[in-house]
Amino acid sequence: MDRIRVLGGRPLEGTVRISGAKNASLPDMCATLLADEPVVLHNIPEVRDICTMARVLEALGAAVDFRVGGTIEIHARTLRSIEAPYDLVKTMRASVLVLGPLLAREGRARVSLPGGCAIGARPINLHLQALSKLGAEVDVQHGYVEAIAKRLQGANVMFDTVTVTGTENVIMAACRAQGETVIENAACEPEIVDLCDLLRAMGGEIDGAGTPRIRIRGVDRLHGATHAVMPDRIETGTYLAACAVAGGEIEIYACRPDHLRGVLDKLRETGVRIEEGPDNLRVRAPRVIRATDVTTSPFPGFPTDMQAQYMALMTQASGTCTITETIFENRFMHVAELRRMGADVRADGRTALIVGPTPLSGAQLMATDLRASACLVLAGLAASGETIVERVYHLDRGYYRIDEKLRGLGADIERLK
Ligand code: EPU
Repeated sequence: MDRIRVLGGRPLEGTVRISGAKNASLPDMCATLLADEPVVLHNIPEVRDICTMARVLEALGAAVDFRVGGTIEIHARTLRSIEAPYDLVKTMRASVLVLGPLLAREGRARVSLPGGCAIGARPINLHLQALSKLGAEVDVQHGYVEAIAKRLQGANVMFDTVTVTGTENVIMAACRAQGETVIENAACEPEIVDLCDLLRAMGGEIDGAGTPRIRIRGVDRLHGATHAVMPDRIETGTYLAACAVAGGEIEIYACRPDHLRGVLDKLRETGVRIEEGPDNLRVRAPRVIRATDVTTSPFPGFPTDMQAQYMALMTQASGTCTITETIFENRFMHVAELRRMGADVRADGRTALIVGPTPLSGAQLMATDLRASACLVLAGLAASGETIVERVYHLDRGYYRIDEKLRGLGADIERLK
């Protein structure tokens, strides 16, 4: 199993290009199931989760063709299966995003129920309730969701909790339902807007994407289209935090600063100097980082997917601060590893208290999820001596060549095979 070795203490300098967003590419790939014509997606990041989603779509009967340079063509001319099996769903929860499109197109879907994961219980009850509102009969049998609907009917759907993939599943289903669907308390994340841009290019009729109220008028058929996926805002935030914690000055390009308002505001409060261009950011690390509290919240707030990386930064900040995680109940698995490096961090329920700055010393570390692994790499950049991060497959699920990109910025980092 690959590991990453980081020798800390080197400031970053240079430029880094941001890849397409994993969490936009995954629903976009599922949306291609709604049409029987080819859909071409550009700016797809070649990360593990994308390969897993390609396998899910192929198992359903779609032809998936990866081309050089991050382009993928998916053609779901006919489908031969309506099942997302346990073996694939257990490796990637986002496989549940085929539920809405399959129901809309085939009138049936059988999708393994994902279990809990490293960051929380993560049920999909809200997806299922919403699809029932659209007329689906939903049953859970033998660990599988079985859903049937002759033709989905537009309905008013009100989510009790903001759910990103839940909103995406309902939008995709509603695009081919009969009549109008209105989603209230919809997720406002840029990934939702990206999905709706693709669906509109395919002939979908959607208003209000990016607001809590989305209106979808169902159509009989969707057609082929070409779409470029938005830049990855969490990858962008990760390089911002990397520069802030390692020191130095970098330029991040091919990104969308307007998607990072919550992160940019917070990092500026900590003293990081950030200049914004239309699709680039210049970042300069401060000499003294100010300890600054943060609470995660749905977009446009501070994203839960940046919480772990921000914690790595706060270990090097002067003073005491709290980080409160409101989205997932178990997303502090990196705390114990940061403590092994010498950080003064204590987690109690949903809040972590960090006292800094503490010198970090390199260690052998292991993380249990994608963003926690990124946090440990960042901590390694600031630590003295050598840090080894095990289980690099977590990073490979969502970061395109993070070791190469950081090396390009002057970090002493390598992948050990
Ligand atoms: N929730 C329910 N019931 C549901 C759905 C969600 O109780 O039916 C709860 C969840 O347990 C959680 C909260 O609602 O407490 C929000 O979860 P959400 O459904 O929004 O999360 P998700 O759609 O499963 C996506 C991203 C995550 C990201 C979250 C929050 C994708 C593929 N995944 O997950 O990304 O953390 O939104 O922004 O888009 C990552 O990339 O590392 C990652 C975990």
